[in-house]
Amino acid sequence: MANLETQYAGLKLKNPIIASSSGVTDSLPRVKKLAEAGVGAVVLKSIFEEEILIEMEELMQKMTARPFVYPETLDYMEEDQHEDIIRTYLSLISECKKAVDIPIIASINAVSNQKWTYLASEIEKAGADAIELNMFALPSDINKTSQEIEDTYISIVKQVISEVKNIPVTVKISHYFTAMGHMIQRFSEAGAKGIVVFNRYYSGDINIHDETLDSAFVLSHNNEIALPMRWVGLMSDKIDADMAATTGIHTGEDVVKLLLAGAPLVQIATALYKNNFTVVGEMLEFIEKWMKEKEYKSIEDFRGKLNHKGEGDTASWERVQFMKEFRHFVLKHMQTPA
Ligand SMILES: Cc1cc2nc3c(=O)[nH]c(=O)nc-3n(C[C@H](O)[C@H](O)[C@H](O)COP(=O)(O)O)c2cc1C
Repeated sequence: MANLETQYAGLKLKNPIIASSSGVTDSLPRVKKLAEAGVGAVVLKSIFEEEILIEMEELMQKMTARPFVYPETLDYMEEDQHEDIIRTYLSLISECKKAVDIPIIASINAVSNQKWTYLASEIEKAGADAIELNMFALPSDINKTSQEIEDTYISIVKQVISEVKNIPVTVKISHYFTAMGHMIQRFSEAGAKGIVVFNRYYSGDINIHDETLDSAFVLSHNNEIALPMRWVGLMSDKIDADMAATTGIHTGEDVVKLLLAGAPLVQIATALYKNNFTVVGEMLEFIEKWMKEKEYKSIEDFRGKLNHKGEGDTASWERVQFMKEFRHFVLKHMQTPA
C-alpha cells in the first residue's frame, strides 16, 4: 500500500488533503466528520480582526446611545466582548484537539500587527498545532503604496512568530502582489514555515434586473487551479518554506498535479461543500491508485518532479504569452478558414 504521509511546516500529516479554513471547519461536529472522512489536517475557520472590531464598535454605539455610562463600564464591556469571541475560538481549538488525532491549524485573518497579536500565544496554549495567517485587505487605498502593504504583512508575520514558542506560523496569501516571487521569498525569510497560494475571496456581482450589487462566485471553478499550480511549480524549489496550494482543487487528479508541482499538501473547500466530505475518500483512493500504477511508494518519490527545476519542459511555468504556436489553436477553435 502506498504511503501517503507528508510533512508540512514541520508537521507530520497522514496524507496531503487538508480541509481548508471555511464554514466546513467552523465547529467541533464538522471537524470530527472531516477527521472521519480522512483528511490529513484541518485549518479552522479564521478568527477575523475585523469581526472583533465590528462587534466592539456595535457595542460602543449601544453604550454611547444610553443617557450615561461610566467610562470604566465601557472599558469593561469592550474587553468582555472581545474576550467572548476569543474564548469561543480558543475552546474550539482545545475541543478539536481532544476529539481528533489530526493536526488542528488555527487561522487568523490579519490586516495589522496591532493589539491582537498576543492572541497567537493563547492559540498555542489552547493546543493548536500551527497558526495560519490569512492576511489580506483589498489594496484599494489610493494613498497606500505596495511597499507599505508588503512591509505590513511581513511585520505581522514577524510579530506573530515572536509571540509563539513552539508552533509553526504559516501564511495564506492572495495573488495581489506585483513582485510575487520576491514576496513569497520575503515571507519565507521572515520565518513563515508554509506559504499557501492563493486564498480566494468573496466577490461581488451585479444584478441587472434589480440593478443592485449582489454576491456571487462563492465556490471555485476547477480551472482556477492554474494559478496556484503555476506558483507552486515556480517557487517550491526556491524557498525554505513549504508551498501549499488552495483554489480549484476538486479531484484526486488535481491533488496529484499539485504534488508533482512541488506542494506537500493541498487545502480544499469547494469540493467539501459540494460533495458532503465523501470526496476526501475518493481523492485518497485516486492518489493511491495512481501511485501504484506509477510504482511510487511514497509522496516524496514524486513530489516536485515537475517543479521549476524538475524533469521535462519545466521552463513552461514561466511562459505567459500565447506565442505563434497557439495561433493555429485559435483559428481551429473559431472555425475560421485558414
Ligand atoms: C464559504 C467560504 C468561507 C471561507 N472562509 C475562509 C476563512 O475564514 N479563512 C480563509 O483563510 N479562507 C476562507 N475561505 C477560502 C477557502 O479556505 C479556500 O482557500 C478557497 O475557497 C479556495 O479553495 P477551493 O477552491 O477548494 O474552494 C472560505 C471559502 C468559502 C467558500
